[in-house]
Amino acid sequence: MRISSREAIALLKKGQVAALPTETVYGLAASLSHPAAIEEIFHLKQRPPQNPLIVHLHHPQELNDLVTALPPESRELMDAFWPGPLTLILPAQQDRVPALVRAGLPTVACRVPSLLQVREILRETGPLVMPSANRSGRPSATQAFHVEEDLGSQIPVLDGGMCERGIESSILHYRENRWHLIRRGILPGEAFIPILGYEPLFCPSSGRQPTSPGQLFRHYAPRARLLLNEEIPDEPIDAIIGFRERNYPEGVAIYLLGSQSNSDECSQRLYTLLRQLDADQRSSVWVDFSFSHEGKWATLKERFEKASQWR
Ligand code: TXA
Ligand code: MG
Repeated sequence: MRISSREAIALLKKGQVAALPTETVYGLAASLSHPAAIEEIFHLKQRPPQNPLIVHLHHPQELNDLVTALPPESRELMDAFWPGPLTLILPAQQDRVPALVRAGLPTVACRVPSLLQVREILRETGPLVMPSANRSGRPSATQAFHVEEDLGSQIPVLDGGMCERGIESSILHYRENRWHLIRRGILPGEAFIPILGYEPLFCPSSGRQPTSPGQLFRHYAPRARLLLNEEIPDEPIDAIIGFRERNYPEGVAIYLLGSQSNSDECSQRLYTLLRQLDADQRSSVWVDFSFSHEGKWATLKERFEKASQWR
């Protein structure tokens, strides 16, 4: 069910859920002050309760009610990247942030999204938890109909068109005197060098306790088997995910990600293409892996790797 911003605000204030666009991917939102709606999110997404949620804010000032002391350089990171696709893991005021949101961890993930439509809603509703609006394990939703594909046509969705960035926020966590990248996202590791003086180490989990619980779960996966290869594989394939400037054999369906010189375009289209493979019932797909694996491409590479581990 498509809804307006005004309807989204009314639903969220009443303690119901609504799917909203952001600059990264669509999120399934509930108000931080409505625990029943937060539970409904886990149910609708079939999300394991051990996987915590990101709290979205209209303004960094709202952190005063949610977190305790900020780790070093937090302010500088917020000034540089908020509003925008950066999520910070911060020490939570545990009486203010429900344990359900944190999956029992002492920390809370926070971000201020940049898409105007969602910021205006946040201004009216206050903090919203908002995981990506896909069923757990499926590629994230970057268009309104993706949300309906996964969560059903009765789910209230504010249609904001195709998400501009197309890949989730990057997540930073401070421990042992350094910031660590615990989820690759649309901001590459080197984007933080001017602020921190170093590139945060990519560290999705450490020792006994995973630092980003979401990394434990299967993710971003279409039903088709993905073969990641620089050259066409020997096995039979019924589709190719490839690039505009490359030549491919005739007689095989080609899904163009974009140009190898434009990572923004390819990021924006990634989840649409993965979902299209399912809609077209593809079973065996060669992903042309001849693209650069540096910078923003590192995130694309990782998403393809995760998507190929489905079976
Ligand atoms: O771009 C985004 O971040 C999107 C849009 C909607 O804002 N949201 C999103 O949420 O990707 P979700 O729930 O799909 O992914 C959140 C990730 C999960 O991997 C989760 O484990 C991790 O954040 N996370 C949340 N709270 C955490 C915490 N306290 N400590 C460590 N990881 C946390
Ligand atoms: Mg997600």
